[in-house]
Amino acid sequence: MPLNTSIARKLLMALAGLFLALFLPVHLGLNLLLLKGDGGESFTAAAEFMATNPFIRIAEPALFLGFLLHILYGFMVSGMNRAARPVGYERPNASQTSPLSKYMFQTGLVVLVFLAMHLADFWFLKVGILAPPEGIARHDFYHRALLLFSSPVSALFYVGCFLFLGFHLNHALQSAFQTIGLNHSRYTPAVKLLGSAYAVLMTAGFSLIPLRLAFFP
Ligand code: HEM
Repeated sequence: MPLNTSIARKLLMALAGLFLALFLPVHLGLNLLLLKGDGGESFTAAAEFMATNPFIRIAEPALFLGFLLHILYGFMVSGMNRAARPVGYERPNASQTSPLSKYMFQTGLVVLVFLAMHLADFWFLKVGILAPPEGIARHDFYHRALLLFSSPVSALFYVGCFLFLGFHLNHALQSAFQTIGLNHSRYTPAVKLLGSAYAVLMTAGFSLIPLRLAFFP
């Protein structure tokens, strides 16, 4: 199938999105170790395992490629939709989908901005693009996280972004399954429920980290 057809673009966006959806629970599991109360021992051991494991070393570039493809095709598909319907729907909420599912582009844009800021908080320090805050070693993400979330403003900013991520994810699974052709009327309610459960779990799980560190240290 040629890669520049609208179906191919949607398909690539959906596949890249599903790949990203696998990353989130792994990332959450590792980051929840920040709350273990063992001075960062488990978190640092897990982070070190991730940093040295050859399989994970291959997964990181794949992850960035996944993000890049998903964002690129997200812009293209959204641009195509706007060009095809420049004046919008006469009754914008007449469809059966949830009102927020119409804002995948907007919620995705917020997640993109969050991602840029989040990489600046952590990953840019590791690769040497930014200098770590004073007194914190380049690879010491445990103390970096503690310092970051010692500020309630940063913590609440992260939680706000996770809410947008949650809205984005809520419709994402269902939409991706539809795009890859796995939408049978019999399974749609189950897929919807699964997508919403996944979105709620990710949002609540990630939010727990800044909230605990900022307000119940
Ligand atoms: C409170 C929640 C979070 C914490 C504490 C956190 C922490 C971290 C840390 C410590 C790193 C650096 C890991 C390393 O390079 O060794 C990192 C990287 C990264 N984070 Fe997060 N993160 C959180 C939420 C998120 C969310 C919700 C997303 C996606 C929307 C995300 C996406 C990424 C990506 C793409 C990277 C770079 C790839 C990687 O190094 O794994 N993070 N995060």
